[in-house]
Amino acid sequence: MKSKNLETALIGAGRSKRYTQGSVNPVTQRASSLVFESVAAKKHATAKRAHGELFYGRRGTLTHFALQDAMTELENGAGCVLYPCGAAAVSNAILSFVGAGDHVLVTGSAYEPTQDFCTHILGRMNVTTGYFDPLIGAGIASLIQPNTRVVFLESPGSITMEVQDIPAMVKAIRSVNPEIIIMIDNTWAAGVLFKALDFDIDISIQAGTKYIIGHSDYMLGTAVANARCWEQLRENSYLMGQMVDADTAYMASRGLRTLSVRLKQHEQSSIAVAQWLQQRPEVAVVNHPALPGCKGHEFYRRDFSGCNGLFSFVLKQRLSDTQLAHYLDKFSHFSMAYSWGGYESLVLANQPEELEAIRPAGGVDFSGTLVRLHIGLENVQDLIDDLAAGFERLTR
Ligand SMILES: Cc1ncc(COP(=O)(O)O)c(C=O)c1O
Repeated sequence: MKSKNLETALIGAGRSKRYTQGSVNPVTQRASSLVFESVAAKKHATAKRAHGELFYGRRGTLTHFALQDAMTELENGAGCVLYPCGAAAVSNAILSFVGAGDHVLVTGSAYEPTQDFCTHILGRMNVTTGYFDPLIGAGIASLIQPNTRVVFLESPGSITMEVQDIPAMVKAIRSVNPEIIIMIDNTWAAGVLFKALDFDIDISIQAGTKYIIGHSDYMLGTAVANARCWEQLRENSYLMGQMVDADTAYMASRGLRTLSVRLKQHEQSSIAVAQWLQQRPEVAVVNHPALPGCKGHEFYRRDFSGCNGLFSFVLKQRLSDTQLAHYLDKFSHFSMAYSWGGYESLVLANQPEELEAIRPAGGVDFSGTLVRLHIGLENVQDLIDDLAAGFERLTR
């Protein structure tokens, strides 16, 4: 019996007997060629190739089907496409639905490579992109053009963490043109803390690289689609050659089993660190979706079932290059890296003008240096002590 409780759902998802074949985990079936026993079997596989029959490696093996079924079940979709990384999931999902002359609307808080893909690659194909303020809410209706084909959300926004009023936005978009395909980069919610398809979003995209894989060692993208978009997403992504290797798919299925406990620990520790930061005199604002003070916190409380380890804070001061190096280079437990979602703590910093440059719908309303943290699974007091030592370095 399937459970509506996340902890139980994550344990069972994608573990049908067809995939586990007597073991606990799905088998790792590595294959390009899949051999047919007869002409009739080949004919059957060809007819059913998009519906779970073994056909050719690029359509997937039992290992891929297990992960696809798991993601489809967890995100309440009609199906899931796998990609070699999150950026591939974003670009191929959009490409699956646009053509020359179309217009897409993208949140101005989207992950920078998503913006660059839209501006540069879609631009070359005569697809125009408009960017909107992530807090625009129902006001998005006024930006929709007759040729708007896709609206792309990301909530919380990259780096600055604004949470969007998604029900208001979806309602407004649907009331202008119900045909528009609404997509979300749902990586922060790991696809499960915000159930995008339950909010009438068509496609929920995720960099599985982050929390699903969870150990900073494999790259994966997933896109779960509702019934109206599934076939087009699946077939277009297939034609664009999108798939991932079986070992990565296996590791992603394995990551699902511990996702819930990891997220709970990331949540508990990140809230503790964020609350500590809120008390620090050096800090102007803490952008943690689960805490008041973060833009759109009320929408987080209404729409999300939990949070993770990724948030940011803004210093009152804009650090000089020397100060920044002195601050960032000497942490004991925080490494500097462009990713997040693994078990380890990470730190990155952005100057306000760097963020201004990637906020096409309007600049930033702060003048201090922004620091983004990923709070990992270390002891939380060790992390706080490390951050306290960082502030001391700034006063020396
Ligand atoms: C919000 C978000 N979306 C997508 C991606 C891209 O994922 P990948 O690195 O797997 O291509 C990232 C990577 O940092 C991300 O932070």
